Amino acid sequence: MRHLMSPLDFTPEELDRLFDLANDIEHNPAKYAHACDGKILATCFYEPSTRTRLSFESAMIRLGGRVLGFSDAASSSASKGESVSDTIRIISCYADICAMRHPKEGAPMVASEKSHIPVINAGDGGHQHPTQTLTDLLTIRSLKGRLHSFTIGLCGDLKFGRTVHSLIGALIRYANVQFVFISPEELRVPDYITELLREKNIPFREVIRLEEVMPDLDLLYMTRVQKERFFNEEDYVRLKDFYILNAAKLELARKDMLVLHPLPRVNEISVEVDEDPRAAYFKQAQYGVYVRMALILTLLESCR
Ligand code: NCD
Repeated sequence: MRHLMSPLDFTPEELDRLFDLANDIEHNPAKYAHACDGKILATCFYEPSTRTRLSFESAMIRLGGRVLGFSDAASSSASKGESVSDTIRIISCYADICAMRHPKEGAPMVASEKSHIPVINAGDGGHQHPTQTLTDLLTIRSLKGRLHSFTIGLCGDLKFGRTVHSLIGALIRYANVQFVFISPEELRVPDYITELLREKNIPFREVIRLEEVMPDLDLLYMTRVQKERFFNEEDYVRLKDFYILNAAKLELARKDMLVLHPLPRVNEISVEVDEDPRAAYFKQAQYGVYVRMALILTLLESCR
């Protein structure tokens, strides 16, 4: 039985098979409409979510399965002091697979150790967000036709953004990928990531101004400043509008650059950009459903 804690739990070959399956689901949805008849997905969300939870639920329903769960720690027994280890033992009696989001780094991993069903990390604090990374990789592969040989700019909150940490970890396994980290000084990518890149001789640059690097990018991954992970409101207010991508800045970019964003967006992408053919973030959300369908099928298959 397999769990998903990090995108690195799958080899690049396994990821290719997962993405092939996701693309098949995209083009032949009817073929999969009863693939999970009789199966139940539990969504245990101890932190707010719109896309991740609902795309998991949509994925399971589109596969013919059913869903149960909670979307708020306050409405679960966590509010009475129950541990995730105990909760997952109980959920294992009620469901066949579980997606868990938790504010504490490592909580889904602790759950997986006691679980009788596959556990999917749906985001653990500022640490990892593997299913967003699968979504990002599927989007890039589907729209660019490859997962190698490009320059990707990651912009915004590179310190607290778990989607950024997971995505960098996944992309370093592909050849010829260069990184440009665009952030204010206070929100730079953590040292453990830059150390890893140096160790592996992977080219990267750290800059503050987005305009300066825009013409060099094949992909631009925008992120929200992670308000909930700040220790004081003042710092958040000072940094929240540091980057605003608008039509004028996009003029500097290549004609085939893609703009990605895990969403939710606050102010960092102006709505005028939504009409630009390079804006791929709403398509990305759609790919998130296909890839979660493929993931549910793959993990349930691993229980046989
Ligand atoms: C992201 C997250 O939860 O980390 N959202 C998502 O799942 N698509 C990004 C964010 O909240 O900024």
